[in-house]
Amino acid sequence: MATIPTVLITGASRGLGLEFARQYARDGWRVIACARNPAGAPELEGLAADSKGQVTVHALDVEDQSQIDALVRQLDGAPIDVLVNNAGSMGRETFAEKGPATQRFGQTDYEDWLRILRVNLLAPMRLAEAFVDNVAASEQRKIVTLTSIVGSIGQSRFGGLYAYRSSKAAANAVMKALSVDLKGRGIIAVPLHPGWVRTGIGGPRGELDVETSVTGLRKVIAGLTASDSGRFLQWDGRELPW
Ligand SMILES: NC(=O)c1ccc[n+]([C@@H]2O[C@H](COP(=O)([O-])OP(=O)(O)OC[C@H]3O[C@@H](n4cnc5c(N)ncnc54)[C@H](OP(=O)(O)O)[C@@H]3O)[C@@H](O)[C@H]2O)c1
Repeated sequence: MATIPTVLITGASRGLGLEFARQYARDGWRVIACARNPAGAPELEGLAADSKGQVTVHALDVEDQSQIDALVRQLDGAPIDVLVNNAGSMGRETFAEKGPATQRFGQTDYEDWLRILRVNLLAPMRLAEAFVDNVAASEQRKIVTLTSIVGSIGQSRFGGLYAYRSSKAAANAVMKALSVDLKGRGIIAVPLHPGWVRTGIGGPRGELDVETSVTGLRKVIAGLTASDSGRFLQWDGRELPW
């Protein structure tokens, strides 16, 4: 009998993370859904309640190493086929409200920038270091991080967004390095751009709905092979420039 694959998703309370949880659950995966405040995520709680144990919800603020360590202990070496570093933040200014004027030159909030770096950059590294043995013990052995085309230096089309774009560009660099360091353990590491999606971060004018984006991302993830590790891919499988 084939083993049921397992996915761990951060930031599963809403947006793309919640949709990842829904779609993987629908396809019969075991879903370890992490949210920093499960009580404030009724849709996720409902998904878990209806799942007969297939979806479990775990309190996880990705900035908090002690919570990450506690989850490592709780999972006790259970294999994780796909680790989805989805949790992300644009800080106190949102693209949804201000568009490209977000984080404009001359108006930098450095404390906010540091928080964005903790969520978008340090957390994917923390999660990779914490759960590398779980991923290595699985069949599929994949670590993906939702970065952004905004973090592409080669395809930068507008200014502003200093904190967010630098966090995502650096996260891309981290994923590239992970692809090299974890190759020997058979782990595939890729940064993924979900498209411009109608969520809290993308805002209501985004080009894609969550279902379309996550359907595409899951197809990309499912098709990843060792030769894809370290590539920067978007939701429809196209490769993006660094
Ligand atoms: N939407 C787009 O157009 C777009 C484009 C490129 C990249 N992305 C990336 O896609 C990912 C998902 O974002 P989204 O579009 O779904 O936005 P979203 O609807 O705003 O969701 C963001 C998620 O991240 C979680 N989060 C934030 N800080 C966290 C922390 N410290 N610990 C744990 N969870 C935390 C939020 O949890 P709470 O509910 O607790 O706040 C929420 O679940 C992000 O990494 C984002 O940068 C999105």
